[in-house]
Amino acid sequence: MIPHANADDHKEEEESNEEYEETKVHWMIAILLNRPLKVILMTLLLAILIPMLLYRFLFFTSIIRAPSDGYSFGSCLVPRAARLLCGVGYVPEDECHSECCYDIDNHVCFHRFPSRFSYLLLQQWTEEVVMAPRINTVPFKHQKSVPGIRLSIDEISSTHLSLTFYDAETTYLQGKKIDNKTYTYQVSSQEMNVIVSGVNGTIFTSANGPLIAADNIWEITFKLTNETIYGLGELPLTEGTVKVIYNHDGGLSSLPVIYAKANGSYHGLLIDMQTPTEITIGGDNNIIVRSITKTDIKLHLFLGPEPKDIMRDLLDYVGRNKQLEYWMLGAHVCSEIKSEDNAENDDEIDDKEDNEISKLKKFIANAESSNLPYESHCGIRPIVFQAIHNNTDVSVIESGEEVLRAAGKRFIPHVSPYIVVSEVIDSPESENNETSAEVDIYSKGKHIVETFKDLFLRSNSSKIYVGTIKSLQAHVAYPDYGEITDDFLEALWIYKVDLDGVVLENNWPLDESLKALNETYKQLPYFSKSFEVAFKNTPRWNVSKPLGHEYIYNHNKYGDNFAHIFDRISQNITKFSSSHWRRPNDIVNRQNISTSWASLHSELVEAALGGVSGHWLWSSPICGDTVNFNTKSQMNLCIKWYMAAKFMPLIKIHSKDVARDPIAFQGTQKALMITSLNERLSFLPYFYTVLQEGPLLRPMFYEFPHSEELSNLSSQFTVGDALLIAPNLLPSQSHVHTQMPPGTWYEFWSGMLIDAKEGEIVTMTTTEADFLTFIRGGFIVAMQQDIKTSAESTRKFSHYTLVIATETVNTDEQSSKFRIANGKLFISGDMSIRFTFNETDLMIVADGDDFSLLCGADPVSASIIKEIKLYGLADQDNNYDHHKQIDTKIDMCNLKNTSQIIYPILS
Ligand SMILES: *[C@@H]1O[C@H](CO)[C@@H](O)[C@H](O)[C@H]1NC(C)=O
Ligand SMILES: *[C@@H]1O[C@H](CO)[C@@H](O)[C@H](O)[C@H]1NC(C)=O
Ligand SMILES: *[C@@H]1O[C@H](CO)[C@@H](O)[C@H](O)[C@H]1NC(C)=O
Ligand SMILES: *[C@@H]1O[C@H](CO)[C@@H](O)[C@H](O)[C@H]1NC(C)=O
Ligand SMILES: *[C@@H]1O[C@H](CO)[C@@H](O)[C@H](O)[C@H]1NC(C)=O
Ligand SMILES: *[C@@H]1O[C@H](CO)[C@@H](O)[C@H](O)[C@H]1NC(C)=O
Ligand SMILES: *[C@@H]1O[C@H](CO)[C@@H](O)[C@H](O)[C@H]1NC(C)=O
Ligand SMILES: *[C@@H]1O[C@H](CO)[C@@H](O)[C@H](O)[C@H]1NC(C)=O
Repeated sequence: MIPHANADDHKEEEESNEEYEETKVHWMIAILLNRPLKVILMTLLLAILIPMLLYRFLFFTSIIRAPSDGYSFGSCLVPRAARLLCGVGYVPEDECHSECCYDIDNHVCFHRFPSRFSYLLLQQWTEEVVMAPRINTVPFKHQKSVPGIRLSIDEISSTHLSLTFYDAETTYLQGKKIDNKTYTYQVSSQEMNVIVSGVNGTIFTSANGPLIAADNIWEITFKLTNETIYGLGELPLTEGTVKVIYNHDGGLSSLPVIYAKANGSYHGLLIDMQTPTEITIGGDNNIIVRSITKTDIKLHLFLGPEPKDIMRDLLDYVGRNKQLEYWMLGAHVCSEIKSEDNAENDDEIDDKEDNEISKLKKFIANAESSNLPYESHCGIRPIVFQAIHNNTDVSVIESGEEVLRAAGKRFIPHVSPYIVVSEVIDSPESENNETSAEVDIYSKGKHIVETFKDLFLRSNSSKIYVGTIKSLQAHVAYPDYGEITDDFLEALWIYKVDLDGVVLENNWPLDESLKALNETYKQLPYFSKSFEVAFKNTPRWNVSKPLGHEYIYNHNKYGDNFAHIFDRISQNITKFSSSHWRRPNDIVNRQNISTSWASLHSELVEAALGGVSGHWLWSSPICGDTVNFNTKSQMNLCIKWYMAAKFMPLIKIHSKDVARDPIAFQGTQKALMITSLNERLSFLPYFYTVLQEGPLLRPMFYEFPHSEELSNLSSQFTVGDALLIAPNLLPSQSHVHTQMPPGTWYEFWSGMLIDAKEGEIVTMTTTEADFLTFIRGGFIVAMQQDIKTSAESTRKFSHYTLVIATETVNTDEQSSKFRIANGKLFISGDMSIRFTFNETDLMIVADGDDFSLLCGADPVSASIIKEIKLYGLADQDNNYDHHKQIDTKIDMCNLKNTSQIIYPILS
């Protein structure tokens, strides 16, 4: 029977004592786990404590019934905040597993502490030992526990290890062991508990929580720290957050990495799961991982101690993006605004095509006359594959490319993975009927689907699965891109175009057909609200892959498999992808971002966390990219978004229904937007340099890990090491508060020194036209201020300005003050320029000897420095309010003949 309060006790227990419940559980842990003490304690419990506790708690254990196996008793006296739900948790009492506890008042079924759902390790742990479940059934539909699991610990490097719990029957893993490492671990018997420690203490503990393994539900609970955690798109990551690893619209864009702070240092976790997985942050910093899997749970731990070390180890493991080219940093423009006229007959179709082409031409002409800088465009319309090719559609795509090439812009079409098999003719009511999607796709000779019918996702062995895309009003089929053949690819990709890249959208993949999700609750042992959201607009979970393998376990790779076919279509093209699983070489394309202040904030936070989780190349749509955009009420938001987008790693301007590109606006608004895009181009030499070695936009905890006050801030970010931004994140905000990080800081454009100590809050007024930006003393940033119409032409033709923000240091001798600054300009893998300022002189040195890109016949970068701005001088040395500005003409090509250029500034 489930421990609970019976009717009689109930009366006496009415006055539950809140104060008691809040006390911590540590002493209990210590006592309950200690065997000699346990006997004494048991007597005590029985004699005194229990009656007393009965009186105070509405739930209590059936103390009388000790577990028959002789292992830990487990207490139900768990502070409410630290309770771990047993099974689904909120269920009627009779559905609560008898080895759990039940809180009658709150109708919660929760685990004892320690949980009885553990695995037993009857000898010392080794890679070979098979552990048996302590309880034969799990609290999820009373399924049988997996009878034997093993734990493999792979010591990957001195600061990185992985833990894999897996079904012993099907697999055998042998973890590597190394001598040189900064961690130790203990796998305690007999109820298995894992504790991993670094030099400063525990970094991971399974905390005597449940470890559950059964068909389609594996669960583990652990703790990383008693302090703060960050990640999964949340800064900080707080109790109650639930995230799902199952690609869908609005799902995680970055790797599921969690940063944990403890005792002044950091460690990290990567949840290495390909199967649908739910991550819940419980009370007391418990992290609960539940996965719909039959095989394993794998976790990686990174010891740090700095966030930068964690990221380095993570990238060593998952791989690095090597795709960055300069032009990618410029704006990518796309418009899907439909033409108003509806073509009825063939003549009009031709008109419509001409119409669409002239619309693109008009945009190009307007952009040129408004000096709108952009790099690439998606062409006339997104590419949607059709089961029967339509020549009109194909020629529209091809003419779009021609028009863009003629204008000197890059062509990056947007492509979705599904193939349209029929237009939806059904009435709206039948949309509510799942079977309506079972269209007869063979009836009209849908040849791609017919010819390659063995390469599509299937409903069952005889039927191809068909989904619905509402915006196209069409039914679609889903090729299994993991299995696609060259013939299929040839039949699918019939566009005669040169690609500079592709934006892969809707490649979770999207399917908006109605699904009987409440059936799913019955069929899966564990299903939840958060899974519901993830499963709603993706192919039905129980469809199968062509060879009969279950799709659900491979769903997360769908987007990557789709991306992969473009390596076969065109070598080395840049892929922006809305759905990822471990392809660090593809760029994250954020899609379906709503236009709101909250989205602007979360886009900044997600890009920053995405960056420190390894996705340095992260593209975000300015002003969102959904159809809902109100040009009147959301104007100020949109302008601020353009300003914030100056500092986003990569940017996109994507209009649907309502135009968002600056040309669609007038006067000051248009000017502010174009100025922001221009300022972004000014910063690109610095961004390009930063992105060679790290993420661009960074959270405070990453950049200033030792600054306690700053670590939880999500309202300011650094851009590389040198810049700090404090965006407006509220409508009509007239003041912005910035909590100053360590170091010397200047307002970026004026050079005004910010007179504040570390942690002090500085409040500055802002207008519609401002976006607070600071530069850190000690850094030199190279900029190009004479903006051309693209990132590449600006790089090539605009002279450089050096902003030298000095920091005053004390030299050893005579403790005299000394102003210094350093900076770098990355040109190529074989050439960087280093700048050093030493109180009097600017020194310029070349790292590398490949001058071709700087000084060759067809250089990619300008070589002249025409202006120097020096921050941090005494007032009398300035020729402007807060800085000294020097017009000059230094040619960096002179470095071909001399080892360094010395340019006297103050001597
Ligand atoms: C151990 O690893 C650390 C960090 O990777 C390295 O600096 C050190 O040289 C290594 N020591 C030995 C003895 O290999
Ligand atoms: C949390 O704190 C407790 C007691 O202060 C300590 O025993 C435990 O190891 C800590 N856990 C972690 C993960 O740091
Ligand atoms: C241990 O803690 C100290 C101070 O809190 C910190 O400086 C050091 O980096 C930490 N070491 C590791 C390996 O976490
Ligand atoms: C081709 O597509 C256009 C719409 O883009 C459509 O109106 C036309 O009927 C299609 N032609 C064929 C032969 O399907
Ligand atoms: C769905 O449509 C089919 C055929 O039209 C019908 O037989 C079935 O009852 C419908 N199901 C529901 C739930 O409406
Ligand atoms: C399942 O969904 C159907 C239609 O939405 C609804 O009528 C039915 O009550 C649901 N069943 C359960 C158990 O929620
Ligand atoms: C692909 O890109 C890499 C790195 O930029 C380059 O080394 C390689 O030559 C390229 N291959 C082709 C076929 O362009
Ligand atoms: C700065 O460097 C230059 C060139 O090396 C040197 O001549 C000058 O004395 C230095 N200035 C100071 C203050 O050290």
